[in-house]
Amino acid sequence: MRTLGFGLAVLLAVPAIVAGAAEPGQPAGFRPGEVWADTDGKPINAHGGGVLFHGGTYYWYGEIKTGRTWAPESNKGWGGTRVEMIGISCYSSRDLLRWKNEGNVLPAVKGDPKHDLHPSKVLERPKVVFNAATKKFVMWMHVDSEDYKLAHSGVAVADSPTGPFRYLGSLRPDGAMSRDMTLFADDDGKAYLFHSSEDNATMHVALLTDDYLKPSGRFERIFVGRHMEAPAVVKRKGRYYLMASGCTGWAPNPARSAVADSVFGPWKELGNPCRGPGAEITFRCQSTFILPVAGKPDAFICMLDRWSQFDLPDSRYVWLPLRFEGEGFVVEWRDAWGPGDL
Ligand code: GAL
Repeated sequence: MRTLGFGLAVLLAVPAIVAGAAEPGQPAGFRPGEVWADTDGKPINAHGGGVLFHGGTYYWYGEIKTGRTWAPESNKGWGGTRVEMIGISCYSSRDLLRWKNEGNVLPAVKGDPKHDLHPSKVLERPKVVFNAATKKFVMWMHVDSEDYKLAHSGVAVADSPTGPFRYLGSLRPDGAMSRDMTLFADDDGKAYLFHSSEDNATMHVALLTDDYLKPSGRFERIFVGRHMEAPAVVKRKGRYYLMASGCTGWAPNPARSAVADSVFGPWKELGNPCRGPGAEITFRCQSTFILPVAGKPDAFICMLDRWSQFDLPDSRYVWLPLRFEGEGFVVEWRDAWGPGDL
């Protein structure tokens, strides 16, 4: 969340070309960085998001960003602009290209300024996993005060992937600060919260309880002193892979990648996985999720956010193919592509 305050995003406005709205009979493709319309023709509003595949449908959850962007006094030193908190969106799709708006599944709570979900607070990076034992959909997210000093993880639960989600509260997992985060559900039924902790200097990976609703108490410190944010984790052929960013707030920086034989580490860093024009600053983006394509072994989509620091609602989505190579993975730039290319 610290920024160099480059204000780079202001230079990046690109013409609004609508992707996903194909002619009848013509499959739409991904157009990284362009405005992406939902099935109602409105721009998809699901930033810092993650995707759950359940029952043949993909569900994309993200931060709703609308309205005015401003820099609160407390954040001016590091460029931490914000919008009013509205809630968490959910979109559904069967083909990854056409997304239907399922609404605000965790709306802000007006009227109680102390509530975690009051519009004056920060609600970022929601991720949802399904618990096969309890049959519940569990959402974890970064919950913070406007000045980012609260540093909590929040949790909510639902009976259906499209909500409504019931907010259960927030905490510092294992007593540790918690900001950027992701959830990872392993194939043995265990789930983990990866979160930037210790003033963002060190990441923690915390095993959740069997119902996924609380930290279990077992955790490890990983990437000690490496200042990593925006974690995304995927498992392939028994090994765990992580993508993350450095800590420069909304401004882009070189992505990081790492591999491990256990979620708890040791993690081996493998450097910036990006390839192509703009790779040195992650194509002006920041990682948010690695999406395994259902039914296609070895097909993965890297989901990134291209933040627009001074007009946050105009932040764009950049989805790129992620492929495994050597010891790690690479994420290559494409102007236009589709799931069929994987
Ligand atoms: C980024 C972080 C975002 C948001 C932002 C605020 O570093 O990844 O999720 O917190 O800082 O400036």
